[in-house]
Amino acid sequence: MAVEKHEFVSLLGPSGSGKTTLLRIIAGLERPTQGRVLIDGEDVTDLPPHKRGVAMVFQEFLLFPHRTVYENLAFPLRMLKLPRGEIEARVEWVVGILALRGLEKRYPNQLSGGQQQRVALGRGLVGRPKALLLDEPLANLDRELRQEMEVEIRKHQTDLGIPFIYVTHNQEEALSMSDRIAVVRGGRIEDFASRTAIYDHPRTAFIAQFVGRSNRFTGTAIVTGGKVALDDGDVRIETAARPDIAEGDPLVAHVKNEKVQLRLAADAPAAATNALKATIRYVILRGAYAEYVLGWSGGEIIASRPRSEAEFTQGTEVVCFWNEADIDLYPVTEDGR
Ligand SMILES: Nc1ncnc2c1ncn2[C@@H]1O[C@H](COP(=O)(O)OP(=O)(O)OP(=O)(O)O)[C@@H](O)[C@H]1O
Ligand SMILES: [Mg+2]
Repeated sequence: MAVEKHEFVSLLGPSGSGKTTLLRIIAGLERPTQGRVLIDGEDVTDLPPHKRGVAMVFQEFLLFPHRTVYENLAFPLRMLKLPRGEIEARVEWVVGILALRGLEKRYPNQLSGGQQQRVALGRGLVGRPKALLLDEPLANLDRELRQEMEVEIRKHQTDLGIPFIYVTHNQEEALSMSDRIAVVRGGRIEDFASRTAIYDHPRTAFIAQFVGRSNRFTGTAIVTGGKVALDDGDVRIETAARPDIAEGDPLVAHVKNEKVQLRLAADAPAAATNALKATIRYVILRGAYAEYVLGWSGGEIIASRPRSEAEFTQGTEVVCFWNEADIDLYPVTEDGR
């Protein structure tokens, strides 16, 4: 995995997949049993953490409770034995960019969660690292503050022009900030691609399940006349034939919630493929979107529609349908996913 100098990269994966371990290997806190770590072309695998020129921000902010904001920020520089004037100048610099002015004399327990998080970020940046490694730094913040901090962190990364490698199990965080996302699963990188590629064209069924919200169907393949169909008995999901799928193969298909379209059943009978008849069970309002939870003969399906479209009420009989191009289809692999 190679990260470019101006990139914001996320390591996204479920709990226990190895994200923190990989970050600790890059930082020098963990020794790899295989492979090398290169920074700026230099092999740093055998260097201790403080000689690598990278900094790490942890999930638990790890501020010193009995030291002021100023002392917390100055600490890494004192470790580097920098001259006093240089320390003051650098602390002044992070206090400025992270909007901490006026808080220098406070103790961590006199700060809000967001302010504490900014001090932790400042402590990572104060040494002017070649790269910043962040391990779920927003996990302890509430949703609103987290979204504000996402914008702020991305802004700092862009302004500083250094790579940020950001660990999260939260797909929204990864999608909101990253240039590229590495999806980590069971100690392996399952795909490393732009955030739009990861979201729009998930390379594996696992990624389709983990990123975005989608409806999942399973069945066996029917291959005819340039088409492949997944038939699960209740619905037929059909798209262009693929060289990696043969007749009878077990398949899994994902259709993202926002790709499921709705029409009144009275207006149009359900087509035999890529469509099904359903009844609206609940409508969840999500601001600009309405999320329809629908019941059909095969179970439940969710459609997420912009509020600018016609709205449907609970109990309405509808037809759900989707475009061929909006189907993510995968052969089922040995591990059943
Ligand atoms: N020092 C260690 N020795 C042995 N196994 C470890 C060690 N540290 C972590 N592990 C194991 O390695 C796997 C990956 O752990 P890691 O902390 O990297 O996961 P993670 O992706 O960061 O998960 P989370 O989202 O829960 O933080 C886990 O199964 C964990 O139990
Ligand atoms: Mg972790």
